[in-house]
Amino acid sequence: MQELIKIAKKTLLNNRRSNYTLPTNNKLYPAQWNWDSAFIALGYSHFNINFALDEISTLLKGQWKDGMIPHILFHDKNIKYFPNHTVWDCGNKIASSGITQPPIIVSILKQILDNHKISKIQEKKIIIIIKKLKKYLKWFIKFRDPKKKGLISILHPWESGYDNSSIWDEPMGKVKVEKGLKYKRGDIKVVNPEQRPLNEDYDRYVSIKNHLKANKYNPFKLYSISKFNVIDVGFNSIFLRALKDIIILLKRYNINSSDLTKYAKLSEIQIIKLYDSKKNIFYAYDVKNKKKITVPSITNYFILYADINNDLINKKIIKNLKNYNKGKKYIFSSIKPNHKSFEEKRYWRGPIWINCNWIIYQGLKNKDKSFSNLIRNKTINLLNKKGFHEYYNYKNGTAMGAYNFSWSAALYLDLVLNKN
Ligand code: GLC
Repeated sequence: MQELIKIAKKTLLNNRRSNYTLPTNNKLYPAQWNWDSAFIALGYSHFNINFALDEISTLLKGQWKDGMIPHILFHDKNIKYFPNHTVWDCGNKIASSGITQPPIIVSILKQILDNHKISKIQEKKIIIIIKKLKKYLKWFIKFRDPKKKGLISILHPWESGYDNSSIWDEPMGKVKVEKGLKYKRGDIKVVNPEQRPLNEDYDRYVSIKNHLKANKYNPFKLYSISKFNVIDVGFNSIFLRALKDIIILLKRYNINSSDLTKYAKLSEIQIIKLYDSKKNIFYAYDVKNKKKITVPSITNYFILYADINNDLINKKIIKNLKNYNKGKKYIFSSIKPNHKSFEEKRYWRGPIWINCNWIIYQGLKNKDKSFSNLIRNKTINLLNKKGFHEYYNYKNGTAMGAYNFSWSAALYLDLVLNKN
């Protein structure tokens, strides 16, 4: 274990550029990604708190004037990547993508602050960070829930972070591919195509992106006209947890939080509407096509991370989760293995992802100690055996996708070193 801790730290440091860290050191993701940076910052916090704060501050430098924090920042423009900064053609001071990702950075910042001593100089940086994060959360409320119903939408599957999850199959099936679409994928030159999304998925990703771009990424307009608009359980759970955590941080530093508390309360009530009491699980909702999405994804269990104030539902969800991959050596498959869409090797349609395990572990810690420890131990065992890869085969643990993967290394450090 000591040896792997060293390797984990080295993995992060090798992937580090000037004040930000790449998701991996191969050619697959040569830029800064939003939620990757959050997990990476948590990893750094276990051995270099300044690197953790730098990682977050660099990401926030890419924040748009309206508050949005993009899902990709292209600090280095000379990179081979699709879709690169010229294809997105947006960003303020820093070239970026025109969409966002789950705002887990808020809760991770709180976790870092709760677990480490902070100097006066660091505190100054932190106050700036907290104010920017508040603006980010307000952006979601303003533009992704314009009628203030309590739940926010994503307008592109890439925003979820689980790009080709089967959750999106139905809404994506309704997206018309743009005529005469031309582009060249780079990912399948680096990773075996059977472990990546299909071309027909990419056609739709690019069509949605082009539509957002044609509308100048105008957030006022796009909620109602986007080709894709889904209220996802995982995303809303991370968002609700972020609201709760930022309110605590704002109070701690004497910054006004009253403009968020009302929405947090509404969101707490509304998220229960995604609960299916017969199946005992939370499901996503396709706003565009007005349809419930009943795909059993591990991300539906992120509801535990939202810490909803409903013991009965939490208990039922935990019971259900215990059956999700019952008795299996490796957990958790991104999609439930008995579902028709399950694919052993294809990215978010079956493989195990360390960040999903970590989020669920965090959500369970204060609800079911022995189950949460089981998840922690199985995740650590998998990483001890296979090292830091992007994802893993649920049936046999085989490592897949990118190697030297930053968030797997970072979350290993947190699982092993965080004693709380
Ligand atoms: C892929 C993943 C996404 C991640 C990014 C960089 O797009 O689906 O979650 O942030 O790669 O690692």
